[in-house]
Amino acid sequence: MQSYELRQKFLGFFEKHGHKIVPSSSLLPTDPSVLFTTAGMQQFKPYYTGEADAMADFGSLNTVSIQKSMRTSDIDEVGDDTHDTFFEMLGNFSFGGYWKKEAIEYAHEFITKIVGLEISYVTVFKGSDVVPKDKESKEIWKSLGISDVREEGMEDVFWGPTGSNGPCGPTTEIYCKNANGKDVEIWNIVFNEFFCDGSREQLLEGIAKFTPLGKKGIDTGMGLERLAMIAQKTSNIFDTDLFSPIMRTIPDVELRIKRIIADHFRSSVFLISDGVLPSNKDQGYILRRLLRRAMTYAKINGFPKEGPADLIHAIIDVYKAQYRELDSNRMKIIDMVYEEREKFGATVEKGLKELEKMQKIDAKNAFFLYQTFGVPFDIIKELRAKDLNQGAFEDELKKHQELSRTASAGMFKGGLADHDPKTIKLHTAHHLLLAVLGELFGKTVKQKGSNINQERLRIDFSFDRKLTDEEKKKIEARVNEKIQEGLLVVKREMPKEEAEKIGAEMEFGVKYGNTVLVYFIEDKKGNVFSKEFCGGPHVSNTSELGKFKIMKEEAVSAGVRRIKATLE
Ligand code: ALA
Repeated sequence: MQSYELRQKFLGFFEKHGHKIVPSSSLLPTDPSVLFTTAGMQQFKPYYTGEADAMADFGSLNTVSIQKSMRTSDIDEVGDDTHDTFFEMLGNFSFGGYWKKEAIEYAHEFITKIVGLEISYVTVFKGSDVVPKDKESKEIWKSLGISDVREEGMEDVFWGPTGSNGPCGPTTEIYCKNANGKDVEIWNIVFNEFFCDGSREQLLEGIAKFTPLGKKGIDTGMGLERLAMIAQKTSNIFDTDLFSPIMRTIPDVELRIKRIIADHFRSSVFLISDGVLPSNKDQGYILRRLLRRAMTYAKINGFPKEGPADLIHAIIDVYKAQYRELDSNRMKIIDMVYEEREKFGATVEKGLKELEKMQKIDAKNAFFLYQTFGVPFDIIKELRAKDLNQGAFEDELKKHQELSRTASAGMFKGGLADHDPKTIKLHTAHHLLLAVLGELFGKTVKQKGSNINQERLRIDFSFDRKLTDEEKKKIEARVNEKIQEGLLVVKREMPKEEAEKIGAEMEFGVKYGNTVLVYFIEDKKGNVFSKEFCGGPHVSNTSELGKFKIMKEEAVSAGVRRIKATLE
């Protein structure tokens, strides 16, 4: 089944079931707290909260759409089989019209009857302290003959707000097998029951309040590229009809690079068409980064000098029937890409020559190449310095610009301390974890943010790829070893210069006063395992901590990973 048929069948199926077809909104949302439209539900937020009236606006309580969407959180994974930055989201929505039974039955019928695919398994919400287990969805799936129903938690099957607040609730996800037999999540069905007064992050921290919504709502999202992959029996999204005409215009180079070029240009085309200009901030910065990365790959692989016009035409031709604005913006898009190419091309060429000449690449001269010629970090790393660490590079960047303190950074550094015993233990475990990361991956791994509550710790750190399962096991084992050694946790007050001199860990981007507290974790002989600027509080001996366990490792943004871990 071709992708245009999948779109048509989706809209037709839900229209037949009383849904009003609503066109995609722009990739640039009206909500200023969000950079891009990341989900189909965004344009419908006011209908869930009751601020707008679906009956008055659509003549129905139910709608269906195919939404242009953009997510950059997985940018590091682009190049594998299933990740992209731009994607189309097929979604059906209800604002007090129907609930779980209909939503699940529609999805089941669409996947198994209309597209004729087999569902491999589904997930449902296992419950938390505040929201009960979703027994109802489990029963509904069973009644439809789906026996493999897996229960998952808040992190995976609970939808939180896009932006600073919004509707939220448990979800159920559908997984199907691709041509390689790999299970891929294709559809997420959200049961919006609550309004959350904070962001998704705050909701997961347990620091956002949620109140029942006046009317329960349904919000679903299915990635068209992944659905096409399953329906067209390919092993990856780049072999589907959505990508293959684009891939054909790219000369043969390493497959991962080809995929990155196809993905980044495709996103850029859609962003420019929706009015984004390359710049150094917000959406414009993302566009610039996508274009420059893709163009540098093209340059170093000796792609034709006349530039990426064929590639842009191919992208527009794949999508113009669905998104007419692409066709009418065709010349504007090509002009803008070429303009950015001019601006960037001359300097980057010099930069690449400089790079070739350099004997040794370290963070300092990598930063010089970036600052002077605009050579992207990923390219320097890929071409000349596989070991180049993003943390060290960013330290150089930091010397040139004072980076703003992130909202989550330094939860404990400014007297915000939480004195709950579980939180205190997790805080000490956090120090051990940071030290272990430094030990395993080098001192250049820097903390980029942290947050700790009674349930778990979270650390964001500069690192530019996914951790392997072995690495995660190693980290756990090493932290547990240090716990078992019963190390002492000692607080010392000292002038900031002295603390810096002894190399106490300090969080990137966080400012400290003249006299600082440093927490040492050391054995009885004074052999120091960890030293960090910190306001405390901490346990006094690591043996109090229990067993350390990693819950999740994920990307936060390009070059920054996140570990969530707990003590059992
Ligand atoms: N809003 C939900 C998602 O994007 C459906 O996954």
